[in-house]
Amino acid sequence: MKFKIAKLPGDGIGPEVVEQAVKAVDAICAKFGHEVEYSFGYVGACAIDKYGDAYPQETHETCLNADAVLFGAVGDPKYDNNPTAKVRPEQGLLAMRKQLGLFANLRPVETFKSLVHKSPLKEELVDGADFLCMRELTGGMYFGAKGREDNGDTAYDTNLYHRYEVERILKLSYEYARNRRKHLTVVDKANVLESSRLWRQVAQEMAPQYPDVETDYMYVDNAAMKLITGPKFFDVLVTENTFGDILTDEASCVSGSMGLLASASVGEHTSVFEPIHGSYPQAAGKNIANPLATILSAAMMFEYAFGLMEEGKAIRAAVAASIDANIVTEDLAAPGEKKYSTSEVGDWVADYISKN
Ligand code: IPM
Ligand code: MN
Repeated sequence: MKFKIAKLPGDGIGPEVVEQAVKAVDAICAKFGHEVEYSFGYVGACAIDKYGDAYPQETHETCLNADAVLFGAVGDPKYDNNPTAKVRPEQGLLAMRKQLGLFANLRPVETFKSLVHKSPLKEELVDGADFLCMRELTGGMYFGAKGREDNGDTAYDTNLYHRYEVERILKLSYEYARNRRKHLTVVDKANVLESSRLWRQVAQEMAPQYPDVETDYMYVDNAAMKLITGPKFFDVLVTENTFGDILTDEASCVSGSMGLLASASVGEHTSVFEPIHGSYPQAAGKNIANPLATILSAAMMFEYAFGLMEEGKAIRAAVAASIDANIVTEDLAAPGEKKYSTSEVGDWVADYISKN
């Protein structure tokens, strides 16, 4: 196969971790006889510096012309504590999601046998946990009307959802649930929020069309607890944008490190593959960040964007092997064990792919 990948490394550790994923992609292409062509786009703070726009039109076109986007992270501390900043790096990510129509964010949570002790949760609770969080990504409070009144002393964000937005993500969630353990948990706050009542109503209308899937409903506060007290309960969890943002950070504790959580954002145009950990500015340029989440995002890219399951599997096997061999960055290294650098881990994984 021949494919075009747009690289959008962004800010902070983004460039370092994307570089390692590219090594894995190149190794896979060499091994399986695929041809890959890369393009590049600025996004986030680096795009603001260059274009005054966090998601410039040029970058959008680069994404539209690609078969998949490999994304790093956006964010820069110089914007974080400035509530009056007119442009923010995060707007680049939100604009990209909106303009590419990326309404579904898939965040799988798995555990690695040799890492269960790394989780802050009890081993027996997390060992074997394996679920998929489906986060709605282009609606809700992130995009609803927002503003200030009373000379700035009153502020609001609107949690707006249309039926079609709820239907399309639920449909996708049911399809994934069908191919997994056939259990879908719809997470909302229907006891309080009108938007959640719409979600629940639509889900209840759709559930009979998927009789092979068991649907249950859970309030978000309860789900937050259940993720910690019994993560093995979940198979596919679907929820709106803001709840999904919060719950997936929480869920990352189950695997032991945020540095392991990959994600795919899919929708109307080119799909985007990115780690969930963000730009981690304290580590930028130090060659210490964990590249595995980005490498695993590349595995998702082969599977979801190109339908190449064997290739995805080969990347996953290499990542698992690196963890088993303790070729890991400082976040995963056992006390007293060697801490490998970002590029050493990337090289090891690519080399493993080539040789196995
Ligand atoms: C994420 C991030 C983003 C979000 C930020 C950077 C805007 O936290 O992808 O989860 O809130 O969606
Ligand atoms: Mn987040």
